[in-house]
Amino acid sequence: MKEFPIEKAFMLIEPGPVVFVTTAVGRRKNIMTISWTMVMDFTPKLAFVTGSWNHSYQALLQTKECVIAIPSADMSEAVVGIGTCSGADTDKFRKFGLTPAKAKAIKVPLVAECIANIECRVIDHALDLGVNFLDTADMYGCGDNERLVGQAIRRRRDEVVLATKFGNVRDEQGNFLGVIWRKTRRPSTLN
Ligand SMILES: Cc1cc2nc3c(=O)[nH]c(=O)nc-3n(C[C@H](O)[C@H](O)[C@H](O)COP(=O)(O)O)c2cc1C
Repeated sequence: MKEFPIEKAFMLIEPGPVVFVTTAVGRRKNIMTISWTMVMDFTPKLAFVTGSWNHSYQALLQTKECVIAIPSADMSEAVVGIGTCSGADTDKFRKFGLTPAKAKAIKVPLVAECIANIECRVIDHALDLGVNFLDTADMYGCGDNERLVGQAIRRRRDEVVLATKFGNVRDEQGNFLGVIWRKTRRPSTLN
């Protein structure tokens, strides 16, 4: 049997899949390639590994928001290209012909050409850095964001002041009906 140094042996376990991670600070958007990704549990928490050697990292620390976008196989050239140049000096969306699309709950762009886009917030790290106020709303993803924030802080609930904006009324299919603007006005009377 062939011996393999431990520094290389860990590479035998492919975390995958290869994804894009988009970030944005103000209007400056960026995109990088990440293969070191992992689903942590069912909450759903996702993890990926990166660090200060990448331009995206500062944006992630600053905004605590990113999109994990899953490219299709025919985007492999862009995957390698985006993973071998820096947003510090390149507008990678433009260079690789990708279309930024508006996300629902965060200010970071989706990648329209990708198979799927997952809007993410870095909640744990924010708490570690001393953030103790979280704000959500029932209209962010039709309640999805409230559920996500709830799951993410469930073991650290005492450390956080949690606010939510509410009053948006939807029907069972999730169609927006309006906003409750008076205590006495019932959702069924809104149009
Ligand atoms: C296939 C592939 C996989 C990569 N996986 C990772 C990764 O898991 N983590 C990481 O920090 N960088 C990874 N990189 C490198 C970054 O994408 C690369 O450093 C990129 O230039 C960072 O862009 P930025 O400086 O604009 O943030 C990967 C690159 C390629 C091509």
